[in-house]
Amino acid sequence: MFDSKTRTIVIVGAQWGDEGKGKLVDVLAERADWVVRYQGGANAGHTVHVGDESTVLHQVPSGILHAGVRCAIGNGVVLDPEGMFEEVDALVANGVDVAGRLYLSDRAHLVMPYHKLVDKESAASKAIGTTGRGIGPAYEDKVARRGVRVLDLRNPARLKALVERGTAHANHILSGFGSSKRADAAFTLSELERIAPRLLAIAEDVGLAVHRAQKQGAAVLLEGAQGSLLDVDHGTYPFVTSSSTTAGGAAIGVGIGPRSLDAVIGVVKAYTTRVGGGPMPTELTDATGEELRKVGNEFGATTGRPRRCGWFDAVVVRYAVRVNGLTGLAITKLDVLDGFEKIALCTGYKVGGEVMSEFPGDLAELEGIEPVYEWFDGWKSDTSTARKLSDLPRAARVYLDRIVELVECPAQYVSVGTRRDQIIGL
Ligand code: GTP
Repeated sequence: MFDSKTRTIVIVGAQWGDEGKGKLVDVLAERADWVVRYQGGANAGHTVHVGDESTVLHQVPSGILHAGVRCAIGNGVVLDPEGMFEEVDALVANGVDVAGRLYLSDRAHLVMPYHKLVDKESAASKAIGTTGRGIGPAYEDKVARRGVRVLDLRNPARLKALVERGTAHANHILSGFGSSKRADAAFTLSELERIAPRLLAIAEDVGLAVHRAQKQGAAVLLEGAQGSLLDVDHGTYPFVTSSSTTAGGAAIGVGIGPRSLDAVIGVVKAYTTRVGGGPMPTELTDATGEELRKVGNEFGATTGRPRRCGWFDAVVVRYAVRVNGLTGLAITKLDVLDGFEKIALCTGYKVGGEVMSEFPGDLAELEGIEPVYEWFDGWKSDTSTARKLSDLPRAARVYLDRIVELVECPAQYVSVGTRRDQIIGL
């Protein structure tokens, strides 16, 4: 939590995403002055519950639900402008006052209609299991120095040249796929012209704005999307997202220095889930996995896809503690385990008589491994009403203590339900 020394806090997912970052950000935003998204795009889906309402925010930082909190979309995000304004309009329709407190980095790259087309048509995208929202192709264009940034909307001649170049490239890719679909530069330009005034009205140098706020002692929350094991460098490559989801990405994606990050909180579920392809050592394909999915409602907020479920993997989270420099954990969805007779924690991977305790870079090393489990008695009681550690059953505390010990990072929060108040601060 914010205090006199801890003024800028990064929130990262420390598994494969969907850990409940949205809820934690929502809880912490109550005390924040700024909430800034630093990577990803409309492929994230933060579900936040306010009263009986549940809202899925894809691009607008979830801090927007708190009156007076300034929210920004950083340069590290690839922005789908239509999608963002749909969210803004829905928020306004629900009585949320957005005026004057939503900022967009003028350095952020735009997701173009042709990026979505390429994503949808790409067989490779299907194999990786992307959300088809153009995120990967937009990041590809960014790195290839072919991207279109928000600030390009201020310069129509340059914008036209960039869009024509991007369209030509997209069409080249589409024909390579054998697709009959083609992107149209004139269409893209007319869409951009229509939306430009609204976008430019909120465009800012977000890095500068956040830097100034930090200098004045503001409480700043940097909100990550997806999870550490989906980081383009540190995740289960190539089954990853296209951005830097880990804490280092927060400095880059907002445009502030890494030394100004005071704390990094890693959000983890009390078990593990993953969407799409790629390794997941503790995946359960049996009735227990089905039970976790059902009780935990493990279906994607953006795509509705069922998530793969399994026991908590301490190897994964210890790795995430290291690559993010986590200062604390927020353990969510403890309540989902309430009905289980026995609960397991994975402490290592057994392969050929040896136990691997560090997550490998080469995924081939995970082939044929067997998770090593420690078993715990379930608590078989309702934790959703617990508001302090001592309210939790002893068996649940034993389980949490062991997680902390294995991953070598203290727990700061335990979440026991979807609602804002269902959280224990430690
Ligand atoms: P991504 O950025 O897409 O990875 O999303 P996220 O990490 O914000 O997770 P998301 O909000 O999509 O998914 C978490 C789901 O779990 C939401 O429906 C939350 O309301 C719910 N949730 C969060 N914390 C808890 C909890 O402690 N218990 C239960 N039962 N549900 C929770």
